[in-house]
Formats: sequence, structure tokens, C-alpha cells
Amino acid sequence: MADQTTYTTDSYFETQERPASLDAEVSKVRDWVTTMKSRGKRIVLVTSGGTSVPLEKNMVRFLDNFSAGTRGATSAEYFLAHSYAVIFLHRQHSLLPFTRHYSHSTHPFLDLLQIDPVTSAISVDPSSTSDLLPILKRHLEVKEEGTLLSVPFVTVNEYLWLLKGVSEVMGGPNGIGRKGMFYLAAAVSDFFLPGTRMSEHKIQSGNGVATDSSVENGRLTLSMDQVPKILRPLVEEWTKEGYIVSFKLETDPSLLLPKSRAALSRYGHQLVIGNDLHRRKLEVVFVEPLAGGVAGEEGGKFKESWVRLGEGKKEIEEEIVEELVKRHTTWIDGGKV
Ligand code: PMT
Repeated sequence: MADQTTYTTDSYFETQERPASLDAEVSKVRDWVTTMKSRGKRIVLVTSGGTSVPLEKNMVRFLDNFSAGTRGATSAEYFLAHSYAVIFLHRQHSLLPFTRHYSHSTHPFLDLLQIDPVTSAISVDPSSTSDLLPILKRHLEVKEEGTLLSVPFVTVNEYLWLLKGVSEVMGGPNGIGRKGMFYLAAAVSDFFLPGTRMSEHKIQSGNGVATDSSVENGRLTLSMDQVPKILRPLVEEWTKEGYIVSFKLETDPSLLLPKSRAALSRYGHQLVIGNDLHRRKLEVVFVEPLAGGVAGEEGGKFKESWVRLGEGKKEIEEEIVEELVKRHTTWIDGGKV
């Protein structure tokens, strides 16, 4: 297996390390799904943020991607507003629903606060309360209802194992069936370094002298394997009844439609949302299979509809989620979407 470069999902999971905390995380998800199901909830799994690819087992260095988790965190809020229960499978320290409004450097939380010079009591600056109040209210309501379950990952390996575990719970015999939706907005690495070829400790450079097998004449050479496409087992094995929405990200706009159609033809799921890196906050395209639709390169028939940031709307995710909820309702009713 040491020089394997093409993995099926089976051979991937047979050879790559199972995260130590997996069983505990999946068990938490199982209990939560049972509770939400007993309350008659629809459940959406939202994946969010980028997966990292470690270069060392004792990880100091890793490859990463641009995703901050904006799409996922924002969409999760709108699903909650539509009364969905949300499993939020996200990159640790990426944006989270509600707290995303006051995160990091763009809008830091501390800037909302003021200190009374006499009593030292801390309060919210009155000029900020009207923005903060509705967000805080929703955050507290959702906490009280317990309808948001956060599941963090860091590496692509953790993501894949968790996605499998959570999907098998949602799609299993005691799962949520057609009332489940999968909203795969995470930016998942296509390449990884398998455990067998990963340095145990921090890769040494040693002033240009070869001190590690992957460093020669001061040059680091990485040979990475392809991550298997996880959509196939998701659709064919882990959840046969869930409504599955995948995303297709391109930087060349001319590839958006052909690649989205190709993904639908290949995996046979319900919807691909195509988005261009630079216009993703302004417009996306929904590509769905449809009898009588436009024939794609692979011979399948597709319906395409653009969703654009509407007048008076702040975030395109509001419209994306609104559209998805309609389609999911039709799906639950057993009709063709
Ligand atoms: O977080 P933001 O900054 O808001 O950015 C949001 C986003 C651009 C990341 C998001 O809208 C998005 O497009 N997410 C998917 C990015 C992506 O992985 O695209 P892709 O074309 O590489 O993959 C397409 C699909 O295949 C994805 O749904 C992914 O879940 C799936 N996939 C990917 C890799 C893999 N090994 N197996 C998979 O099944």
C-alpha cells in the first residue's frame, strides 16, 4: 500500500488513521439526531470551512485553502431560521453561526464594549445595540432549543471520517430519511499525504543539507495522493434518501456549468450549486437533473437556474436557503424536484 496513489473510499478508510475522538463525536450526533427526530425536526448537515493537509504527524506545517467558512456559517443561520436542526461540521476556528458577525479583525467583539469610568461596569456601546440585539436573541434562542450541533475538524482525514460517521447516522435505519439534507459547502482538499509517507516529526531543513528524505539540496519535494471523491459513497451507501446538495467551485467561469453537470451525472445526487470564486457572494447557479432539460456533455439532462443577490438582501445565502427549503419540501413529499 505504501506507494498507492489512487484510493477508493474503502481503501482510504482501511489505510488512513481513524481519529481517536471519532466514536465519541458520532455517538453525540446519534443521540442528538434521535432527540431532533422525536421533535419532528428536519435536519441539515452543513459542512463548512477548509480542510487542512498535514505534512508531518506531529503537525507543524500543513497545506490549507482560502475558505473562511462564510458560506457555511451564514447558511446555517438561515436554515435555523427555517426551523431546521443543524449539524455544523466545520473547520475548527473558522466562522460560526451568529458569532461570525463579530469575528476576527473585520468587526471585533471588543469594539462593541465600553467601560463605565466610575464603576468599571462593562456594557454594550448604545450605537451597537440595534445590530447586536437580534443576533444575540437568535443565538440564545438556538442555544436554548439545542438545535445547533457543532462538530469541528482540522484535517482532511478528520473531515472524511466525520462525514462518513455523521452521514451513516443520518442515513441509517434510525436516521432521518428524507427529512435530512446534506449541504456540502466545505472546501475539501483533493490531495493528501498518506500516513505511510508522512514524516513523524517536523521536517528538517538543516541549512540546505539533506536531513530528511523529502529534502534534497535544500528543496522540499512533496508527492501527494488523490483524496477519493466522497460524494459517491455518500449518495450510494451512506444516505440513500437524503437530499444532497454539493458545491462546485471554479475560478474559470466557463467551467462552472460543464463541471457542475459532470458532477451530477457522475454521482446522481439532487443538486449542484456552482460558484465562481470571485462572484460567489453575488451569484450562484443551481444545476439539477430534469427530464426534458438541457443535455450536458455526459448526455444527462439538466435544469439550470441562477440565484442572485436580490435588492434589499444582505446575503445571498438567504436566497439559496429559501430555494433549497422549497425543493426539500417537494423531496420529502416524495415528488420529483
Ligand atoms: O467559505 P467561503 O469563503 O464562504 O467559501 C465558500 C466556498 C467557495 C468554499 C463554497 O461555496 C464552495 O464552493 N465549497 C465547495 C468547494 C469545493 O470543494 O469544490 P470542489 O469543486 O473542489 O468540490 C466539489 C464537491 O466535491 C464539493 O461539494 C465537495 O464536498 C466534494 N468533494 C470534494 C473533494 C473530495 N475528495 N470529495 C468530494 O466529494
